[in-house]
Amino acid sequence: MKIIDTKSEIENQLQGYRKKGETIGLVPTMGALHEGHASLVKKCVAENDISIVSLFVNPTQFNNKEDLRLYPRTPEKDYELLEKLGVDYVFSPSVEEMYPEEDKRVFDFGQLEKVMEGEFRPGHFNGVAQIVSKLFAIIKPDNAYFGEKDFQQLAIVRDMVRQLFMPVNVVGMPIIRESNGLAMSSRNQRLSAEQRKNASEIYKVLKESKLLIGDYSPAELTDYVTGSINNIPDLQIEYFQIVDGDNLQQVTEWSDSDYIVGCIAVFCGDVRLIDNIRYK
Ligand code: PAJ
Repeated sequence: MKIIDTKSEIENQLQGYRKKGETIGLVPTMGALHEGHASLVKKCVAENDISIVSLFVNPTQFNNKEDLRLYPRTPEKDYELLEKLGVDYVFSPSVEEMYPEEDKRVFDFGQLEKVMEGEFRPGHFNGVAQIVSKLFAIIKPDNAYFGEKDFQQLAIVRDMVRQLFMPVNVVGMPIIRESNGLAMSSRNQRLSAEQRKNASEIYKVLKESKLLIGDYSPAELTDYVTGSINNIPDLQIEYFQIVDGDNLQQVTEWSDSDYIVGCIAVFCGDVRLIDNIRYK
């Protein structure tokens, strides 16, 4: 496994494979890797001749400076895991390498970015699109792997690829959870043992809510989930929205769509967690 930190070096390394017609797979990450990331990496290694994992804590997608400062960084442990998983290249550039000048691009994702994470984290998806488009431009992957944990991010990346005519196949992967149900996240490292236990109730409430869709309207279910979460110590809901899985617009009736997902953002202490559940 080679660890590369410049754009020109990774471009040089990949040229040969591309000429030979070998397939290139990319897993973009911000490091502090866990089993959720590992599931994407395993799929990437299995499906491509050459697999690359990028580790880059992208400053332009953080709308909260404290969140950026406190974001966990564990490069040595990450390299060890990626080596074991059979990754060929790690791309871990500096901020200067990825942003030699300010990125002034403003993307337009229409309604997709006006709800949920887009509403509560202004500028977040523009930053995600900036970095993911740069990574795709440098690495030119055939396949790129993203988790459904960041449900809206996956929709945004698919839309970006479509808008920019990028020849990248975007693969979505299911959420990996701790044994107690808590969706794995690098930010979980910042939770105390007690907070972790309380945070694991998020998925329990989501699962319970799925059993109620016959009796409750989407609006009633939203009230149920919001009330249940806010009753758990340490947890404060930021939003829970029941949306069409394709266009992310809120549904008012269960018959509005064949593909319906409930997306949630919850503060556990000062750590912000997201999760989602498919209803239909
Ligand atoms: P990061 O949070 O490191 O996540 C990297 C990838 O791992 C994302 O596609 C995310 O959805 C996926 N992932 C995280 N936790 C997961 C879990 N529990 N189960 C399945 N997949 C999971 O998302 C980002 O980084 C950044 O926004 C990035 C796309 C790298 C752009 O900077």
